[in-house]
Amino acid sequence: MTASPVTRSRTGARVERLPLSRFTTLGVGGEAEVWFVGTHEQLAEAMEAPYRVLGGGSNLVVADEGVPERVIRLTGPFAEADLVPDPALSDPPTVVTGWVGGGMPLPGLIRRLQKLGLGNLEGTVGIPAQVGGAVWMNAGTRFGEMFDGLHTLELVTPQGVRQVTPLDLDWGYRRSGIPRGHVVTRVRLKLRSSTPEEVRARMDLADQARKGQPKMKTPGCAFKNPGGVSAGKLIDEAGLKGTRIGNAMIAPEHGNFIVNLGGASSADVHALLNLIRERVGVPLELEYELWPEEG
Ligand code: FAD
Ligand code: EPU
Repeated sequence: MTASPVTRSRTGARVERLPLSRFTTLGVGGEAEVWFVGTHEQLAEAMEAPYRVLGGGSNLVVADEGVPERVIRLTGPFAEADLVPDPALSDPPTVVTGWVGGGMPLPGLIRRLQKLGLGNLEGTVGIPAQVGGAVWMNAGTRFGEMFDGLHTLELVTPQGVRQVTPLDLDWGYRRSGIPRGHVVTRVRLKLRSSTPEEVRARMDLADQARKGQPKMKTPGCAFKNPGGVSAGKLIDEAGLKGTRIGNAMIAPEHGNFIVNLGGASSADVHALLNLIRERVGVPLELEYELWPEEG
């Protein structure tokens, strides 16, 4: 097999054809042209043709055929965090940080905030996302969600850059209200000054709630909880835990997780999603993002 050539775009972005299975926590997905962008100029160039935005790949089911659009990945300064409080915006105990890049891995950020004794985002511990993807989904748990700790968001579209606050967005459970195609490049965090011990204790509670989740390759929960009821419980009650199609399986540990047993195809995962929809008596809204979309 020959390695795909790495090229540089006009503005210096690294461009490479790569299997997206390398970037998804499910470990499934065919090839696409990946643009690694580290500046606003490179991002603007990447947006000159149809594109998709890739974060931590922890909510994605990508087709084995890959996707035809450019896939944008934030790197360099977009993956760094300035956690120094901004004195002009902070009013103790509320601390507003400098800019945190959308490409920053969320688990690393949560660890750093804990050491600094800064709270508000500790309920998101264990979510293997990037900051931008977690903001885009308003990822969270019953112990807290991303919008608990956001002050300002920088969004980039082909039309330009704008800054918004949570008040400008119609956000809610697993929903940010940010239109598709807007890239979350950076955010300022709004945190609460506490102690490392207190933040750690709240993280431990959120961690504890994950004990029953599978440890295999997965994109997390497949469906949103309808009306606050656990979709996992509904799938469990339908007797579907442990059901296997091809090399994908509904996790025996938790009904709302689909896992890759090794060599699963996107078709295996789609077949399980359809089976769940047929068998569970309540309409379920997908939490996974399908690339390309259904229909
Ligand atoms: P991706 O999966 O890469 O992309 C998801 C969507 O976000 C896509 O539409 C993509 O275009 C968009 N996106 C990504 N980055 C950006 C950006 N910078 N700007 C704009 N749009 C962007 N989720 C929860 O909410 N709570 C949980 O407790 C939880 N637990 C999980 C546990 C495991 C083991 C796994 C694998 C997943 C879990 N998830 C959970 C699901 C997942 O982590 C979240 O949905 C997360 O928000 C996905 O972020 P990501 O960066 O991986 O985005
Ligand atoms: N349950 C079952 N069978 C199952 C799964 C769950 O009976 O197969 C029961 C549990 O015993 C418990 C209740 O359902 O009594 C709730 O289960 P759990 O605590 O696992 O929470 P959940 O509602 O199923 C949600 C989130 C998770 C998050 C956990 C922990 C959604 C869709 N899921 O799951 O988020 O990690 O709470 O806070 O909101 C994700 O979104 O990808 C995700 C993993």
